[in-house]
Amino acid sequence: MNEYRINGSHRLQGELRVQGAKNSALPILAACTVCRGVSVIHNCPDLTDITATINILRHLGCKVQVENGTVTVDSTSIQTHHVPDFLMQEMRSSVIFLGAIAARMGKASLSLPGGCEIGLRPIDLHLDALRKLGAVIHEEGGHILLECPEGLQGRVISLSFPSVGATENVLISACTARGTTTLVNAAREPEISDLADYLNRCGARITGAGEGIITIEGVRALHAAEHYVIPDRIVAASYMLAAAVTQGNITLKNIIPAHLGPVTALLQESGCDVRVREKQLKISAPPQIKAIPTVRTMPYPGFPTDVQAPLMTACCVADGTSIVIETIFESRFRHVPELCRFGADILVDGRIAVVKGVPRLHGAVVSAPDLRGGVALVLAGLCAEGQTFVRELHHIDRGYEKLDEQLQYLGADIRRIEDEKEHTAQNADPGLQQ
Ligand code: EPZ
Repeated sequence: MNEYRINGSHRLQGELRVQGAKNSALPILAACTVCRGVSVIHNCPDLTDITATINILRHLGCKVQVENGTVTVDSTSIQTHHVPDFLMQEMRSSVIFLGAIAARMGKASLSLPGGCEIGLRPIDLHLDALRKLGAVIHEEGGHILLECPEGLQGRVISLSFPSVGATENVLISACTARGTTTLVNAAREPEISDLADYLNRCGARITGAGEGIITIEGVRALHAAEHYVIPDRIVAASYMLAAAVTQGNITLKNIIPAHLGPVTALLQESGCDVRVREKQLKISAPPQIKAIPTVRTMPYPGFPTDVQAPLMTACCVADGTSIVIETIFESRFRHVPELCRFGADILVDGRIAVVKGVPRLHGAVVSAPDLRGGVALVLAGLCAEGQTFVRELHHIDRGYEKLDEQLQYLGADIRRIEDEKEHTAQNADPGLQQ
């Protein structure tokens, strides 16, 4: 048994330091494979996806130590180019190792876990780009064998979609290719710039990261380096929305306000007072936020798809009707039926959700469908009347460091129930029985 018990309707107040970015730390740790020596990566969040990445590094032959958010990776000797299924299954986005292992070993073999809760997660863009760099790739039954015994050859590559993962695989593998690689229609997320910063500290010659066209001038080899991971903009946005649904007043420290532009603008339009200063942000919410006429998820710098689910919770208790359009992933509305168990009024047609604000949600027993959908349910529990139980917390543990403790610190009545004897759902309000 692993669930959150939440008693809703508590205003959040206080201040919080935001964790390091999961989606920056993951590709940077994978890139340590190519950067020979001892890299010291600070501000890594304590998450199961980070642990899964460290397990793959150790399997490859790296020595890895973790202490207080600092991960030290010694990649001096890499002993294998193969990542076994059981390690690949631990994390959907382990495909970020493909380019790194190939650049270091001249070949890479791994299985791909295929789709996940939010969509099929194909990797055609990754493979096309690596083939253009000269890799020979055999695919069979979900297994990938990539060979580039002569190394990789830089060239112009144009992505049909600004895929974050494909951009990362090209960035990491092209650093030590012969000649120059130009990546057109590259992803512009801040995590791409952070990865490029780390690689440049390791001796790479990358320019244009964060823009649509990135140039990578190949160098002979990369050495190790020290790096501080940027703050997690998605986690920061999630806490902003927790304040928005509880009439809260919180200050977030250790953030980069520019990374939260679209979220800040949208919450200001909904009636929240948001003030930013250097590396902190203060949000004060009204008794009820205004509905958001239309929000469409887009690649950065558009509204982030990873904030769509928690934003939908805010729309459920807003004054008016909101329209949420999910343009990035094909099945990223799995939190909708769970939100409806709280009494939310949501109609979904394909990638469009019409959310009619209701005066109040009531507590429910729900299951997290995926990482960000799980946090959306926690936010619903925070603002619902009565008691809520959120199950399947392993999804949330992938991306949020000590979510219950952080929310408790801000005044929420939330507890993590680890085993049966503490479980009181059966004794809870009869209305909560499933
Ligand atoms: C990264 O996933 C993030 N994950 C995701 O965060 C995030 O939602 C996503 O970027 C978009 O911002 C990590 O960084 C670990 P994509 P990624 O390649 O790289 C399609 C979270 O909650 N596509 O930009 O997988 C794909 O199916 C996670 O922290 C192809 O068709 O995202 C999707 O529809 C969820 N072929 C769209 O592009 C490909 O080869 C965006 O995918 C690759 C992607």
